[in-house]
Amino acid sequence: MEFDKVIKTRRSVRKYKADEIPEQYISEILEAARLAPSGLNLQPWRYAVLKDKNIINNVAKIIQSSVAASAPVLIVCCADTKVFESTGERVRELYEAGAFSVEEVQKFASNDLIANSMNEFMLRASMAFNAAISIEHIALKATDLGLGSCWLQPMQFDREKIREIINLDSRYDILCFMTIGYADEQTEVRPRLPLNELLTGSQLCDGF
Ligand SMILES: Cc1cc2nc3c(=O)[nH]c(=O)nc-3n(C[C@H](O)[C@H](O)[C@H](O)COP(=O)(O)O)c2cc1C
Repeated sequence: MEFDKVIKTRRSVRKYKADEIPEQYISEILEAARLAPSGLNLQPWRYAVLKDKNIINNVAKIIQSSVAASAPVLIVCCADTKVFESTGERVRELYEAGAFSVEEVQKFASNDLIANSMNEFMLRASMAFNAAISIEHIALKATDLGLGSCWLQPMQFDREKIREIINLDSRYDILCFMTIGYADEQTEVRPRLPLNELLTGSQLCDGF
């Protein structure tokens, strides 16, 4: 699908058909997630792809989501809290790929640099920030394949119960959930703020 069409036709779909999603589509969606950019190329995103209806229903119950219960595929989107331990390796790879200079490699060579220069809140925010790009790639690729998706970010839920059900190690923070499936509803375009309300500061473009 043409890029503009993907951007303009993606919608949050909250009701799905029971039809199975081809494995090839799931692979393509995960590949799109894998290719997302991230600070220092740390790639903190991790995914648990749920396809078993019983497991999806159990998770849907815990997060109290009828949207999740309706989806044939539910992706638990996580961030690896230990990803900073691989900073040196990631930065070296960037150097080898011609993206970073020797000076940058030297600056970021220590695996502790990031962890030591940010507090816990900033570290978690940074991981979520990076992971969100990859998670949105999932939604965009799903649209490209003719599938619907919806971000789900429940305010409060029993994370430990989800961990037990999907056998998730404590190093992975659960950030949100993404539903995938064939839409079983018509979706209209959702409202957005006009561009002039998004532009701030004194350097506004002509015409806004
Ligand atoms: C970070 C994030 C969290 C969201 N959480 C939920 C959610 O918990 N439940 C839900 O139904 N939709 C959720 N959404 C979908 C938004 O409500 C939706 O993107 C917004 O209303 C615009 O509609 P559209 O996606 O169809 O363009 C979330 C979206 C994002 C990006």
